[in-house]
Amino acid sequence: MLNQAQAEQFQIEYLQPVEKREDAKSSWGQDIKEGLSQSPKTIPPKYFYDDQGSQLFEQICELPEYYPTRTEASILRKYAEEIVEITGICELVELGSGSSTKTRLLLDAYHQPNEVFKYMPIDVSAGILKESAIQLKQDYNSLEIKGLVGTYEQALTQLKPSAWPARMIFFLGSSIGNFSEAGYDNFLNKIAQVLENGDYFLLGIDLQKPKSTLEPAYNDSQGITAAFNLNMLTHLNNKFGGNFDVNNFKHQAIYNEERKQIEMYLLSEREQKISLEKLDLKVKLNKGEKILTEMSRKFNIEETRDKLESKKLKTIKVFTDENKWFALMLCQFSK
Ligand code: AVJ
Repeated sequence: MLNQAQAEQFQIEYLQPVEKREDAKSSWGQDIKEGLSQSPKTIPPKYFYDDQGSQLFEQICELPEYYPTRTEASILRKYAEEIVEITGICELVELGSGSSTKTRLLLDAYHQPNEVFKYMPIDVSAGILKESAIQLKQDYNSLEIKGLVGTYEQALTQLKPSAWPARMIFFLGSSIGNFSEAGYDNFLNKIAQVLENGDYFLLGIDLQKPKSTLEPAYNDSQGITAAFNLNMLTHLNNKFGGNFDVNNFKHQAIYNEERKQIEMYLLSEREQKISLEKLDLKVKLNKGEKILTEMSRKFNIEETRDKLESKKLKTIKVFTDENKWFALMLCQFSK
């Protein structure tokens, strides 16, 4: 719980209107119903991130095999000052902020003593949002924080115009890789809609590389990624009155070289019947049947540049590491 002094330091807003939360809840499970009636069965990756899942994800970011976080952080460390020089002071809006650990590298660069600046972290996990806001407020006294709890879709449709001369929306960690081709396109349309002329978009993308580097990143030796994947079932149990037994499932991650994406599955180790009471849903799984829980697409700089350009997001500069494993694309919106 927050004490009074802490609670006054920053604002947290829930994106769904409170009186409509019950409706929002039932539509919030609709995607599960759809996903589990498809073939192959799927569960959307946003269900990874209950408070436990967000913590497991933080642990993934520290794994020796999981290179994206470290690599992106090294790029930010090296180029944050240059990014600030290009954009100047602006309102910072982060999609999927999680613990905001990497964000600190940007905040360090934007932070000027005695000059107020604004940061809006957006995340589906209220717990991690509040915790990191408390920490950030302690470390950056001139930072004005307004956290939004909700999905990207909610955020991008409900974000109000900025009171600052410019805004930079940033989306790190290659989370954009979770979208399907259509979802990716739709997401960029929404970004373009919410930005005003001259605003910035900073996008982190994981680049295509050999399977021998990619697969271990999603099959770590300590089993943290497996726990993260399985936790999705525990989350569904808690949220929707389900009876998944995680002992009957196995984590699997493969790199689909043709489609240039990691695919994560939960493999049913036996025939089983699952019910999710609050969704009034019963599902049968065969032995060996796989549920797709995540696609993590891997990108190429030129194609991404073209894609962004087609949405009037002009790439001003691309920052990358010496292995070209990861890239940050700094774009500016212009009509
Ligand atoms: C947060 C979506 C970027 O795709 O690498 C990490 C999630 N899944 N390990 C990714 C993830 C398994 C991660 N993103």
